[in-house]
Amino acid sequence: MALHNVNVLLGVTGGIAAYKAPDLVRKLTGLGANVRVVLSPSANSFVTPLSLQAVSGNIVHQHLLDPEAEAGMGHIELARWADAILIAPATAHCMAKLAHGFADDLLTTLVLATTAHIFIAPAMNQQMWAAQATQDNLNILNERDITVFGPASGEQACGDMGVGRMLETHEIADMLDQAIINQPSLPSSKSHPITVQPLSGKHIVITAGPTREAIDPVRYISNHSSGKMGYSLAVQALAMGANVTLISGPVDLPAPLECHLVPVESALDMHTASLHAVADNCDIFIACAAVADYRVIDISEHKIKKNTDKLTINLVKNPDILADVAALPNSPFTVGFAAETHDLEHYAKDKLARKKLNMIAANDVSQSDIGFNQHDNALTVFTAETQFILPKQDKLALAAELLKIVAQEVSKY
Ligand code: PMT
Repeated sequence: MALHNVNVLLGVTGGIAAYKAPDLVRKLTGLGANVRVVLSPSANSFVTPLSLQAVSGNIVHQHLLDPEAEAGMGHIELARWADAILIAPATAHCMAKLAHGFADDLLTTLVLATTAHIFIAPAMNQQMWAAQATQDNLNILNERDITVFGPASGEQACGDMGVGRMLETHEIADMLDQAIINQPSLPSSKSHPITVQPLSGKHIVITAGPTREAIDPVRYISNHSSGKMGYSLAVQALAMGANVTLISGPVDLPAPLECHLVPVESALDMHTASLHAVADNCDIFIACAAVADYRVIDISEHKIKKNTDKLTINLVKNPDILADVAALPNSPFTVGFAAETHDLEHYAKDKLARKKLNMIAANDVSQSDIGFNQHDNALTVFTAETQFILPKQDKLALAAELLKIVAQEVSKY
């Protein structure tokens, strides 16, 4: 596999074929490539940055003038990082901009700022592909040694038949792999220095989602956790260079490709999986899961029949995973969450001290627009000495903010 350890910067522009981009990322990483994704301004109407972040394990870059992204890996660094730039799908508009040297967004700027070889996989309506302007632009790109994969012919999203469909993702990935084998001048291994990332080399264990406590073979006790907050932490921790073990209760989310996913059902399963994962040189433990506090004492072997008006189910307390990890002799840096409906600071500080944690993120779950099963969240983070207020924002951005604080505190630990 020629793509092994090659840095591929995947540019995705705004055409219907952009929905295939997550699959293309999987194919490229499957061939061993390191993939970072840049979205053109219109591409995120067709594909979400979160799904591309999940499959690539890296932050998705979108804006040229983004102070936060520039503080991480800036656009010139990104252009230098790339061994190859692949634009798929490349729209007619994108081809025109490349042919004429426009640099009015992040992707086109990177193309001008890089010495990496450029590959494009065009995708457009057959009449647009045949248009003289597109064909003239294609000739210019060919003359500049930009490699063009496809397009294929067949039925198009608009109902037309003809040339203009993007090649299948496995064809694009294989052609890129082959191009690198065939052209010795192209990189066969990463040759650029790697940026030191804040969590580089750290093993982070994250619990996420709800647990389910069985009542009988068809019923269980659970809660409204969607796993979004914990999965966002996993995505951002990977992007910051960590090795991530994600211990997840049942959720409906794709796990980031590069993390080690441990799916569990009950609190007891999560307890066993957490202690096992922490024993494997864990540096940081983040308990984001909404663990059921109690489980059913006698789980019925058969489905309980509704032949009484009242039913009593006896519960017993589950072990506290977070407290047990914090109590280990060589415990990792331990971060808890506190989901509270009132007296947020009081209860969060109580949990910080009682469970002997290094940090706690207090989550006001009385507000219906944040917390459980919401896109956004807001946190107040406490350590024994200080506090940080992270205002309402989407969970992915919030996860990055929280991990920056964790990285900072771990460096003092
Ligand atoms: O999943 P989402 O829909 O994105 O929602 C995110 C969230 C609201 C679930 C998350 O932000 C959050 O607040 N998680 C903690 C929920 C919770 O159970 O809080 P708690 O205050 O009951 O528990 C305190 C801490 O102890 C938590 O870190 C919890 O993971 C941990 N715990 C609790 C009980 C137990 N038996 N074992 C534990 O480890």
